[in-house]
Amino acid sequence: MKNKCSLKVNGKNITVEVSDTTTLLEVLRDHLGLTGTKEGCGKGECGACTVLLNGKAVNSCIVFAHQVEGQEVITIEGLNEDPKSKHIQEAFIDEGAVQCGFCTPGMVVSSKALLIKKKKPSKEDIREGLSGNLCRCTGYTKIINAVEEAAR
Ligand code: FES
Ligand code: FES
Repeated sequence: MKNKCSLKVNGKNITVEVSDTTTLLEVLRDHLGLTGTKEGCGKGECGACTVLLNGKAVNSCIVFAHQVEGQEVITIEGLNEDPKSKHIQEAFIDEGAVQCGFCTPGMVVSSKALLIKKKKPSKEDIREGLSGNLCRCTGYTKIINAVEEAAR
C-alpha cells in the first residue's frame, strides 16, 4: 500500500508516494533525482548514502521514508548550494582527497555534521566523525587533511 509522505529536502517542501519499505535513499535518488547521494552497501555500513537529517548525519539507506515525515533533510546538493558549506567540498578538491569520488558526497556530509558540532575538530575528532564512512581509494589521510583545511 502507498502512502503520502511529506518532508523538507534542501529547503523545499516535497510530498511523495511511498510504501512502508521505501527508504529515504530511494526517495532522494529515485523520486527526486538527487543522485549525489550514493548507494554502496545498502546496509548502513559504508556511509556513501549519508545525508543530514535535522542537522545530524544518518545513513539514508536504512531510514524508511515514513520515519522522516515532516523532518528536514539536506543532501550533498543542498550543501553545494549553501555558501556556508561549499568550502568543505573545495577543501576536499584542494587537498587531493577525491579519487574515484564515490565516497565523497557521504564524506562531505559527515564532515558538515562534525563541523556543526565542533568548529575546530582535532584529527582524532575527524577520524571519529568519519568512522562510519568508508573509502577504498585514498587511505584517509588526505580526507582528514581536507576536513582540517575546511575548519580553518
Ligand atoms: Fe547506506 Fe552503505 S549505502 S551505509
Ligand atoms: Fe574512491 Fe573514496 S575516493 S571510495
